[in-house]
Amino acid sequence: MCGIVGYVGNRDCADVLVDGLSKLEYRGYDSAGIAVFEKEKIVVEKSKGKLNDLVEKMLQGKKPHGHCGIGHTRWATHGEPSDINSHPHGNKRVTIVHNGIIENYKPIKEFLISQGYGFESETDTETVAKLLDYYYDGDPVQTIAHMIDEVQGSYALGIMFRDFPDRIYAVRKDSPLIIGVGENENFIASDVPAILKYTRDYYLLEQNEIAAITADAVVICDNHNRLVEKEVLTADWDIDAAEKGGYEHFMLKEINEQPTAIRTTIAPRIQNGMPYLEESGITGEMLKAFRRIYIVACGTAMHAGLVGKYVIEKLARVEVTVDIASEFRYRNPLITKEDLVILISQSGETADTHAALKLAKERGAATLSIVNVKGSTIARESDYVIYTHAGPEISVASTKAYSVQLSIMYLLAFELAYVKEAITEQRCRELTEALVSIPDNLKEVLEMKERCQFIASRLVNSDSLLYIGRGLDYALSMEGSLKLKEISYIHSESYAAGELKHGTISLVTQDMPVIAVATQSDLMDKTISNVVEVKSRGAKVTMICSEDLDVDKNVANHLVKLPKIDDLLMPLLAAVPMQYIAYYTAVLKGCNVDQPRNLAKSVTVE
Ligand code: G6P
Repeated sequence: MCGIVGYVGNRDCADVLVDGLSKLEYRGYDSAGIAVFEKEKIVVEKSKGKLNDLVEKMLQGKKPHGHCGIGHTRWATHGEPSDINSHPHGNKRVTIVHNGIIENYKPIKEFLISQGYGFESETDTETVAKLLDYYYDGDPVQTIAHMIDEVQGSYALGIMFRDFPDRIYAVRKDSPLIIGVGENENFIASDVPAILKYTRDYYLLEQNEIAAITADAVVICDNHNRLVEKEVLTADWDIDAAEKGGYEHFMLKEINEQPTAIRTTIAPRIQNGMPYLEESGITGEMLKAFRRIYIVACGTAMHAGLVGKYVIEKLARVEVTVDIASEFRYRNPLITKEDLVILISQSGETADTHAALKLAKERGAATLSIVNVKGSTIARESDYVIYTHAGPEISVASTKAYSVQLSIMYLLAFELAYVKEAITEQRCRELTEALVSIPDNLKEVLEMKERCQFIASRLVNSDSLLYIGRGLDYALSMEGSLKLKEISYIHSESYAAGELKHGTISLVTQDMPVIAVATQSDLMDKTISNVVEVKSRGAKVTMICSEDLDVDKNVANHLVKLPKIDDLLMPLLAAVPMQYIAYYTAVLKGCNVDQPRNLAKSVTVE
């Protein structure tokens, strides 16, 4: 979703803003703009399209020169992508950039029109800009506090007041914003990668705190104008983590980072060969006491939860319900104080997952979040948090975040199964050891890229594709299917293999390729029967299975054979060929792999 960057210091502000925005491109956007103080005048430049379009405009002599300003990448919500709807918005006195949605902008806009204000754009943001102008009385903090009382919805705002050309202001509610702290320069940004080149130190702005930022000082107060003391945090992501490092795309880099990401995530959570999750505050005994577990998330994170359900139920014999966050929040779920609600989120900012967390807390359930971004809203507001250590994930299509989320799901399942005495200590150790070996197994699987590239070349001209599997393979294939459709734009569905003949098999022809995931020995024969069924109807079948599968080579057209490990852990290996197949298909089709159309990395609106 929208990205915000702001800068005050000695550097050329426009350059810093464009550079920072380029590090937020992964969030998804359709237009970009900046506002810079040229002496005491606010100069705005903005453009529909990519950052390059904005840069092109600036190269034609419209680059604002100055040392203090704000920038924005917009992901359209109110009003189509256009130059006029692009941010910044405002007038000569107050100019803003905004991430979020102002729910009550219509009555505010009507009121402002009655007061003589004119509006150029269709955005909710322009209403906030004009409202700030309406309240402005020479005191920016007071003005922002008035605005906070009036607007409903979510916002992260970067604000410039013409009367204060040495500073920018920032405020946020339910949308992320950090303040980067440098030497004789300071920043605001939607996310850490935008400031990493200049500083690793930052403040997290809390709900409705107002910050005044000059080159040498950051003054933060609450909305009653009381000063707030804050701890400076230090990002442990290094700058290389947010660069492509020789790979053609971030997605390919991130696929290849999975062994390291998993190792870094699980290492602190294993002690003496057994799972150890207590640093999150949640003990085995606590886990054991819950009546039921809910896992709530969106997109890829929800798919990680589905694998988690299979593993927890299979090993620990505890009931697990997996919900899409946008459904959970409105279906009046039957959660009680005796339940545990697990929220999974890479960004920790997804609006629906956050709403689900709030609902779970209202109902008195214990909440545990599995989150990648430190200090993000979901992490801060849940009772317990387990951080995944994937490092920044820049590609919109999630890969390494999925693997680390799965790894934590496994550790939770092992721990719970052990404390419930559903498995022996020896089995728990075996499983934990198998998990520790995954990064090594993965290195072998990552070598299979040519095989996957070849399979991609067979799929690239298809309009539609089916993924099939049973049990854990079905849960996993949902992610394979999502990956393919989101980046290659080939329609794809994931189906429980046994359910095919109840309708969907009517779609199967020679023009409908099928990818069958068959890694679970106990279901192998059944899945193979389903493969035979689709192949005899003309489908070209790719089968992802383990190397010990003794199968007639004619069963499938293409085989991807994975190293044999414990069946339960196979999803961690089988995810890779799916990611590669999606990646190479998208590359062969010439798609924008890292920033697929219409998608945003962090969905901070409902
Ligand atoms: C968006 C992203 C997906 C992601 C989902 C949930 O749709 O494009 O890749 O899985 O949001 O995001 P979260 O940050 O909560 O994991």
